[in-house]
Amino acid sequence: MPSVESADTLADLAVTIARETAALALAVRERVVAGRLDTKSSATDVVTEGDTACEALVRERLAAARPDDLVLGEEGGTSGTPAPGQVRWVVDPIDGTVNYTHGLPWFSVSLGAEVDGRVVAGAVVEPVSGRVWRAVRGGGATRDGEPLRVSGLDDLGLAVVGTGLNYDPARRGRQAALLARVAGRLGDVRRTGCASLDLCATAAGWLDGFYEHGLHRWDVAAGSLVAEEAGAVVRLPGADGDGLGTEATLAAGPALAGPLTSLLVAEGAGGI
Ligand code: IPD
Repeated sequence: MPSVESADTLADLAVTIARETAALALAVRERVVAGRLDTKSSATDVVTEGDTACEALVRERLAAARPDDLVLGEEGGTSGTPAPGQVRWVVDPIDGTVNYTHGLPWFSVSLGAEVDGRVVAGAVVEPVSGRVWRAVRGGGATRDGEPLRVSGLDDLGLAVVGTGLNYDPARRGRQAALLARVAGRLGDVRRTGCASLDLCATAAGWLDGFYEHGLHRWDVAAGSLVAEEAGAVVRLPGADGDGLGTEATLAAGPALAGPLTSLLVAEGAGGI
């Protein structure tokens, strides 16, 4: 793992590139909202001119600043298999694409820098508000420079919990059924449509917790580090043995993570 100092440099670069990309996302948004949308995994999984132009800009800036690094992007895939110690950038050029195309303000540009499969630095920038979420492994998490701290709540019955729904309609149905089973046991529920910002909101204590099945590496790379560095317990896809299922992401304050996991497992999260 790189030193905190060099991870800090990676986080600064992530912020610089994400800010410039956020400006581009806003600049082309009007055309995107009015225009034709191509689709990917399902009829609602859209890819816009904004997504492709933003990812191209990120790749161009990374190639110029750090030509030896690799990139894994939502739209362009991976540029190779990382060697030990090599930096790989995990990029969601626009997370919350459906919000982006519908005029809703909750979308982000998300850049995480991974070394040996672990995110060491990241930035999530919100084009509309201009908020900058930034984290360095071992160096803390901030929103616009202010340190972040997760919620200390331990009572599920008071907890406001975020979740998300998949593009695959069948899976979305199973997720909605799980949500119907757990909603009455929680304080309240939110679905913002932007997983990276759900993780950042958890870091800020705006959400007491968040879970979703089926997220990709680019959705969670930067946001999960923001949450973790703010003190959240973070569980990423690929983990196993806790009954949540291998594709679950969960983030919550330390007092809520256990009860939230148990509730989800008891209500069948493993089969989502
Ligand atoms: C999506 C968003 C959404 C989540 C979906 C993701 P995208 O990412 O993060 O909140 O519920 O599962 O795929 O497609 O907008 O980058």
